[in-house]
Amino acid sequence: MIKVDLQYTGLKSLEKEIDLNKVKQIHETIKNKTGKGNDFLGWIEWPDAYDKKEYAAMKESAKKLRSKIDTLVVIGIGGSYLGARAADEMIRGLNHTDKVKVIYAGHTMSSTYTAQLSEYLKDKNWGICVISKSGTTTEPGIAFRLLEKQLIEKVGVETSKELIVAVTDKAKGALKTLADNKGYTTFTIPDDIGGRFSVLTPVGIYPLMVAGVNTDNIFAGASLAKKELSANDLSNPAYQYAVARNALLNKGFKSEAMVTYELQMQYLNEWWKQLFGESEGKDGKSLMPSSMVFSTDLHSLGQFVQEGTRGVLFETIIKVKNPIVDVKVPVDQDNYDGLNYLTEKTLHEINSIAIEGVIDAHVNTGKMPNIVLEFDAMNDVQFGYLVYFFELAVAMSGYILEVNPFDQPGVEVYKYNMFKLLGKPGIK
Ligand code: PA5
Repeated sequence: MIKVDLQYTGLKSLEKEIDLNKVKQIHETIKNKTGKGNDFLGWIEWPDAYDKKEYAAMKESAKKLRSKIDTLVVIGIGGSYLGARAADEMIRGLNHTDKVKVIYAGHTMSSTYTAQLSEYLKDKNWGICVISKSGTTTEPGIAFRLLEKQLIEKVGVETSKELIVAVTDKAKGALKTLADNKGYTTFTIPDDIGGRFSVLTPVGIYPLMVAGVNTDNIFAGASLAKKELSANDLSNPAYQYAVARNALLNKGFKSEAMVTYELQMQYLNEWWKQLFGESEGKDGKSLMPSSMVFSTDLHSLGQFVQEGTRGVLFETIIKVKNPIVDVKVPVDQDNYDGLNYLTEKTLHEINSIAIEGVIDAHVNTGKMPNIVLEFDAMNDVQFGYLVYFFELAVAMSGYILEVNPFDQPGVEVYKYNMFKLLGKPGIK
């Protein structure tokens, strides 16, 4: 379901870029969980080993919640919301007509956003899914305190218990204590799966169930990827991608831009940026993950990509083979706009031709390497597949770089400073 095309990278052959034994050795390290951060490798077996009992309980709870609301507020930040948002937007689209709309809070401390969101909810039938693995993160903590109060004022304490679900650690953290004390349903984030690897756990799956997404198909896709991406060498597409991006880093490129031609995959880009940025941005090493949505950004950043500073950025293009829906350009008798020459083509065909033309311009004229990832479609099965693909790729890529891909010590620095300035008890 994902084909890696390296013909536009300028790399002659991947075998020349890395010692094959190193790939095999890292593969064993991942599989046997013997490398750095090895207590956070639970995502490897998860597509088949997920807790079936909890999954059934989530389905039941999500069905009930879905029947009561028209809006679900997902409260979380980083790995605790990006995966659900990426999946929801990619699978359901940006202007879907499903009865439940998912909106997000707790990923910002903007007072304006938060107050306007609260205002927006006034005439909605809404519920909350609050997500935090640590259960102590400030941004979602504040948002939950505000929105829980608003919901209780609206529906009363008893009914609010039917409308609030928490996804958190099985035992520790303030959110678990709060949820247990107030009688909210909770679902568990496994100990051995870190935030940015958690989209297939209740973190992503519960909100998607409430949104009416077919999560069985997401698991089918992830399980297929687990099976198909099991080779220990460069025949494995996830490893091809990991090795190619590191080869470009070694040639001096500093940033990788993930490029999609589908607006509804913008949050997939955001999820990918977190996965790679937080996993690899350590010890002064790694590519800076960035992203663009074309054609939109061709009319803003396109000039830089074509003719700006060279040797810094390369692109990874996501090419989607089959659209969810296609549109034909209609014939117009007057043809004042001169577009009748396009009427034999569908919009998806035109988009695909644009991809070809842009790759040619960026690679051949702009001397900008392009990795192309070909996806089958923007659906649930593909989403599960791509999650596993990128998780495996970042594990290989991070170990090639010799960093621990599964921790995020740098994120703590701002938190400490903020707590100190805010006067949090116990922080000196
Ligand atoms: O990947 C990570 O671990 C982080 O991005 C976390 O997901 C993010 O910081 C939110 O943390 P928590 O779920 O503990 O609130």
